[in-house]
Amino acid sequence: MKIFLDTADVEEIRQAAEMGMLDGVTTNPSLVAKTGRPFAEVIKEITTIVDGPISAEVVAEDAEGMLREARELAKIHDNITVKIPMTAEGMKAVTRCAVEGISTNVTLVFQPLQGLLAAKAGANFISPFVGRLDDVGHDGMEMVADLVEMLLNYEYDSEVIVASIRSPSHVYRAALMGADIVTVPYKVLLSLFKHPLTDTGIAKFLADYEKIPKA
Ligand code: G3P
Repeated sequence: MKIFLDTADVEEIRQAAEMGMLDGVTTNPSLVAKTGRPFAEVIKEITTIVDGPISAEVVAEDAEGMLREARELAKIHDNITVKIPMTAEGMKAVTRCAVEGISTNVTLVFQPLQGLLAAKAGANFISPFVGRLDDVGHDGMEMVADLVEMLLNYEYDSEVIVASIRSPSHVYRAALMGADIVTVPYKVLLSLFKHPLTDTGIAKFLADYEKIPKA
């Protein structure tokens, strides 16, 4: 399973890269806004840290506008994947990007059939949002399981990026169902390393080490 970081914070991205856990990055306008930095500047800096797909999102709502933005974003670096929302206009843009060889990630997917349409349009990546579905009383990971099954039924090549992840259990279930990628906030990545018995085990070993006679 590939692990992407869902952030526009370059320090978090550097840390994850040093841990050897970074296969790519996803951003969205909200995450870039949090940095307080110009959009293109942040995306360019991320391309210098990560050797893998980096999602940058369009903001136009019509296909022509999306396509114009997609072409500009794709010029930044070969690793840029253009994030396009799941709308009918969005799918027109995805279809055109596929013809032009621009990589796309269809975002804001909340039900499996939306994902199936994204695959049909030629999306390289599909991002079902699990946390936001859980927030409104649904089981986000069940939706991902159905999407993964549908894509397998028809042998689409699109890769599923489980997005809007809030906890290690989302990652656990994604790995069990064979989702291609999880994109995790930095704090969720850190929590994946943790287990209380690991911490107490380290403390005990250190305490016992102190009892060893020094030569
Ligand atoms: O990648 C999509 C993700 O950024 C959305 O996450 O936590 O805003 O629902 P969240």
